Amino acid sequence: MKQQRLDRLIAVIEQLGDGHFHSGEAIGQQLNVSRTAVSKYIQEVQKLGIDVFRVTGKGYRLMSPLQLLDAEKIAALVNQASSAVDFEVDRIVTSTNDVVKQRLHESTIQSGFTVFAEAQTAGRGRRGKQWVSPFGSNLYTSFYWRLEQGMSSAMGLSLVIGSVVARVIETLGVPGVELKWPNDILVDGKKIAGVLVELEGQALGVAHAIIGIGINVAMPEPSKAAMDQPWTDIGSLLVEGFDRNKLAALLLSDCHAALLQFNQFGLKPFIQQWQQFDRLSNQHVRIIMGDKEIVGIAMGIDET
Ligand code: BTN
Repeated sequence: MKQQRLDRLIAVIEQLGDGHFHSGEAIGQQLNVSRTAVSKYIQEVQKLGIDVFRVTGKGYRLMSPLQLLDAEKIAALVNQASSAVDFEVDRIVTSTNDVVKQRLHESTIQSGFTVFAEAQTAGRGRRGKQWVSPFGSNLYTSFYWRLEQGMSSAMGLSLVIGSVVARVIETLGVPGVELKWPNDILVDGKKIAGVLVELEGQALGVAHAIIGIGINVAMPEPSKAAMDQPWTDIGSLLVEGFDRNKLAALLLSDCHAALLQFNQFGLKPFIQQWQQFDRLSNQHVRIIMGDKEIVGIAMGIDET
């Protein structure tokens, strides 16, 4: 989509974000476009998974107001120890992992650099799956981390992040959070968050990890039909609402602290936390590796 169209689309969303009625005429005036053009923008808004409806004589309204991510709020809520971490908040991107990769190629970014977005038009999950990413309702973020030891340390890193995300969700008050190997985050057997680590670099030598995290916060009605696996969201498990900016800041602070610790001590400090959430602990499992198969009881992870 061309930049001007994208800017106008975001302007429409921001205008509607207060949850009040806005007439097509008023939106058109603000954007300097016709009412017909406004109705096309509204269709685009709906394609982003936003629940918007129209009442004759009143105009357009969202089903519920939006609480947008705000870089200043996030910066104010980030831990002192992570306050120097560089981050950006975007509105609509293909995938936050793509944005980190782009920044990695066009400039020098430091480990910890983080991207948050309100919506992803091509959000991806593990094993080539789509990650449903409607606007302004869930959390989509990616961190950059430089792997001095090369790609071999990436598996441990992915386990560390899974356990941090599980703990962050639990900290918000969500009961019964579990981790399913290697880093699916579930509640009651339903997916609440996922981690996608993508790597760049040479097999031997420094590698670059792009760590994408998606958390279902409040899945809007229109996106529910697109979900292809059992899922849940934080909103339906908590009685009280909370600020997504707080979740963003908590995630940034805790992932940054954990990755620094991982750099220094490896997996050792995280084993206990991982086991605490381990859904497969003491369960019969089958490990399939090509034509080889191992049958046994999952006992958790060790340092390697
Ligand atoms: C999974 O399949 O469990 C992993 C899902 C990871 C989704 C996140 S959302 C932010 C980042 N950008 C993406 O395109 N994917 C990850």
